[in-house]
Amino acid sequence: MIYEKIVERRTIRKFTHESVSKETIERCVDAARLSPSGMNRQPLKYIIVNEEILLEKVFSTTRWAGYLPDYEPSREEMPRAYVVVLLDKRIKEEVGHDAGIAVMSISMVAYEEGLGSCILGAIDRPKLRRILKVPEELEIVLAVALGRPAEDPVTDKVKNGDIKYWLDENGVIHVPKRKLEDICSWNSSS
Ligand SMILES: Cc1cc2nc3c(=O)[nH]c(=O)nc-3n(C[C@H](O)[C@H](O)[C@H](O)COP(=O)(O)O)c2cc1C
Repeated sequence: MIYEKIVERRTIRKFTHESVSKETIERCVDAARLSPSGMNRQPLKYIIVNEEILLEKVFSTTRWAGYLPDYEPSREEMPRAYVVVLLDKRIKEEVGHDAGIAVMSISMVAYEEGLGSCILGAIDRPKLRRILKVPEELEIVLAVALGRPAEDPVTDKVKNGDIKYWLDENGVIHVPKRKLEDICSWNSSS
């Protein structure tokens, strides 16, 4: 069920060494391909990264868990694949909302397939461009890291207005989510 999957999914930042099949990654990207696109212009392109040597190089361009200093995957816990989302500026100048929708599609299909994912915005884009030989007409927008989960974060309540995710004494990440009644109203903004 879509609702349950969306509610249960949490960002995964630590992965097992198990590789991810090409078919599974292609299924994720195919879902992005068929996702909504403003004016159906479909300006996005995708680079799938799964070669061992490139995985390490791409990892060196990423930053993890900004609220938790020192919390990042070790070499053993690195993602087993990345999908890098690119905007083709020959088709559209500004990315708009398409990339956000695309990475959500990728994350949700990955989750359905038993994979964990982390959407990555904190990327050293010039460095990643050089590593993946991305031409100037393609803008690097976001990436999605993929792999079998090696952690199990939990959803929590926002306490005292603090939305920062935190680590408990067992090393489990708690992700505070605001209450529905605090963010949603009917028919007017109050
Ligand atoms: C656009 C976007 C960019 C993100 N960039 C990063 C990132 O660079 N590094 C990271 O560790 N997490 C990143 N995240 C993951 C968020 O931190 C995560 O979604 C948030 O803490 C809520 O947790 P949840 O996904 O488990 O609900 C990003 C998420 C989004 C939507």
